[in-house]
Amino acid sequence: MTKICVLGLGYIGLPSASMFATQGHEVIGVDVNLVLVSALRRGEVHIQEPGLNMLLQSATQSGNLRVQSTPERAEAYIIAVPTPLERHPAMDTPRPDLRHVRAATEAIAPLLEAGNLVILESTSPPGTTANVVRPILERNGLHAGHDFWLAFCAERVLPGRILIELVTNDRIVGGIDPISAQRARDLYGSFVEGEIMMTDATTAETVKLMENIYRDVNIALANEFSRVAGHLGIDVSAAIALANHHPRVNILRPGPGVGGHCIAVDPWFMVDAAPNETNLIRTARAVNDAQPARVADLVSAVVSDVDHPTIAALGMAYKADVDDLRESPSLDVVRMLRERGYTVRAHDALAHRGPDGMVLETDLTAALSGADAMVILTDHTTYRELDPWSAGPSGMTHRRVVDTRACIDRARWQSGGFEVHALGAGGRSSVVEEVPHRI
Ligand SMILES: NC(=O)c1ccc[n+]([C@@H]2O[C@H](COP(=O)([O-])OP(=O)(O)OC[C@H]3O[C@@H](n4cnc5c(N)ncnc54)[C@H](O)[C@@H]3O)[C@@H](O)[C@H]2O)c1
Repeated sequence: MTKICVLGLGYIGLPSASMFATQGHEVIGVDVNLVLVSALRRGEVHIQEPGLNMLLQSATQSGNLRVQSTPERAEAYIIAVPTPLERHPAMDTPRPDLRHVRAATEAIAPLLEAGNLVILESTSPPGTTANVVRPILERNGLHAGHDFWLAFCAERVLPGRILIELVTNDRIVGGIDPISAQRARDLYGSFVEGEIMMTDATTAETVKLMENIYRDVNIALANEFSRVAGHLGIDVSAAIALANHHPRVNILRPGPGVGGHCIAVDPWFMVDAAPNETNLIRTARAVNDAQPARVADLVSAVVSDVDHPTIAALGMAYKADVDDLRESPSLDVVRMLRERGYTVRAHDALAHRGPDGMVLETDLTAALSGADAMVILTDHTTYRELDPWSAGPSGMTHRRVVDTRACIDRARWQSGGFEVHALGAGGRSSVVEEVPHRI
């Protein structure tokens, strides 16, 4: 069993630290957020993730997990801190912000001893392990690949299924040298049931970005198809469902834009690494980033006959059934509608606090009461299962729905007396079947 220090106790670090602890490793969970450290010590989990509460409890009760604000000596260190984007009006494109990775590495450097293993789990631009982490760790005279081991191993888990996927997903470990990769593989092997494949660190970093860029480009294609469908007067959901019957086609779904900490962010890491070779990646970002304005335009058209309209905006999270608002396009839609002078009630079925003090409605019936239109921005189960005859929709002033996720039964809502508008619906309601939800 290994003594492991996990730096960063968020969506990735906390489940990993708890998992290692329940497998019998001695784990020190470290976070610079003191409020979070106190809450975790009281056993309070700040993330809505099925099973995480129980896993943390059993990790803590086993005595194998301790949570604190500074790292201590260990045999292995895992860095799972944020890797956001730096945006500046003077910059053409957003750039990777590696300040948290640097700070976490700086905190480990003085503790590092011969034989230790350091793993970077944060999604990072190609070359980060070799060119950013390695030089900081080598300052004290130890050499990576000789005195200590250094590897990159990105997470691929899906929020909402983190605890399952942590165990079952295949993983790629990229070592600074082959022994580093083997050491990292052995450590994850204590609970990972998927295949663990080894490569070099820069390839592993690039692979993680390729996976998310593939999805961003695919969603951009779906969004472009939805614009074309609107132009042609056909229903994009029906068309995509039919196209996906081709054995080698898997088009994702159009929507109000792409959010979350990964798919909306990671493409810029690749653009930054190879600015002249990434036209398609930039274009996909531009297509997806333009979706919130498209949604705002559609809402404006739907309420164009109403003076000072009130809009119920449903779903602030970036995807269904999670409470994560990071980079969520819903927030842009709300902002744009407010800039147009509308009263917008922002509701989320799971998140109860918006960013920067943004107030979220917690009562769906109250959010819909007297509204001139509801716009569904996230396909939370609560909204998918909403009944057009229930108290909330019945209390609206105008019976109008804008469904940006193609997630409600259009015919049912129409029979409930609602006008239903969708992105790329082309005025028809010829959905033959649901497009499988793959986002
Ligand atoms: N959330 C996901 O679904 C997901 C999936 C795959 C990969 N990733 C990647 O994993 C990394 C972590 O993401 P996350 O979602 O867990 O972020 P998060 O914001 O939920 O958690 C990160 C935690 O790190 C802490 N932190 C910041 N600097 C620190 C430091 N110097 N020392 C110790 N703790 C520090 C923060 O206080 C925070 O609690 C990112 O690179 C992300 O892109 C995330």
